[in-house]
Amino acid sequence: MTAEKTQRGQRIGSADLAVYGAWDASVRWFHWINVLAVIGLVAVGVVILNAKLLGVTDDGMVLLKTVHVWIGYVFAVNLLWRLVWAFIGGPGAHWRSFLPGGRGYVAEARTYIADFIAGRPRQYLGHNPLGRIAVTLLLLLMVIQAVTGLVLAGTDIFYPPFGGFITEWVAASGVPPDTLVPYTPALYDEAAWDAMRSFRKPFITVHYYNFYVLITVIIIHILAVVVTEVREGGNLVSAMFTGKKLLSKPPSDSARSDG
Ligand code: HEM
Repeated sequence: MTAEKTQRGQRIGSADLAVYGAWDASVRWFHWINVLAVIGLVAVGVVILNAKLLGVTDDGMVLLKTVHVWIGYVFAVNLLWRLVWAFIGGPGAHWRSFLPGGRGYVAEARTYIADFIAGRPRQYLGHNPLGRIAVTLLLLLMVIQAVTGLVLAGTDIFYPPFGGFITEWVAASGVPPDTLVPYTPALYDEAAWDAMRSFRKPFITVHYYNFYVLITVIIIHILAVVVTEVREGGNLVSAMFTGKKLLSKPPSDSARSDG
């Protein structure tokens, strides 16, 4: 081993490196279930988007939407749990740890950016001030995607939680609503169906455009995490697996501690 490597090894073992509890198990499970669900939703969503081009039949379309909706349920329940956990979880999971704003936030963000540019990056146990904006935005966009998706699950394939209302609305007279099958116009009342499709329109529009916004913010989030880890250290990526951050100086948000 070279002298330099030996020296580095000693520095890693020295007292100025310390392990801090950053993310609790609930936050970590949420994060990785969310990553997998979003990958699945994006993949199936892109196929739905290009269904005509790919020559997908009506049956194929129902299947694609059904798969998308089942992954969507996992995504929505996981997201709901994270929002609840933001109220009842520990300091690293709490609203206060990621909502931008509050006393001194703007000054702290300015200092953070100035120090970052000057090559004196600050280390944080939780999110740095810019990370807070990203996390809040991501949660907001995902809530919008989940709510519009749940409405579309009802209007498109009559799935819960709103599918029951939709079938009551569009069933032709004499057809029991619970026997309605997607993509079968003969079973629908034409006027009610048209009204339901008009009601649906803003939801699909938001679901469609928000998909692109969400993808953009996700890409920015991933790039920011990589740049931050390279510039500041703190093993951000592995911390989301282990829950622990290894920091070379006391974190700027040292008042917060998860254990
Ligand atoms: C990160 C979350 C999500 C992403 C990225 C996503 C993405 C997409 C995309 C790209 C489409 C095609 C849009 C179009 O055809 O114009 C779509 C359609 C759809 N999504 Fe999602 N989605 C998400 C969450 C959900 C959830 C939670 C549900 C319901 C549980 C859901 C239900 C639907 C349904 C039913 C459609 C078919 C709408 C249609 O094209 O007729 N989605 N989604």
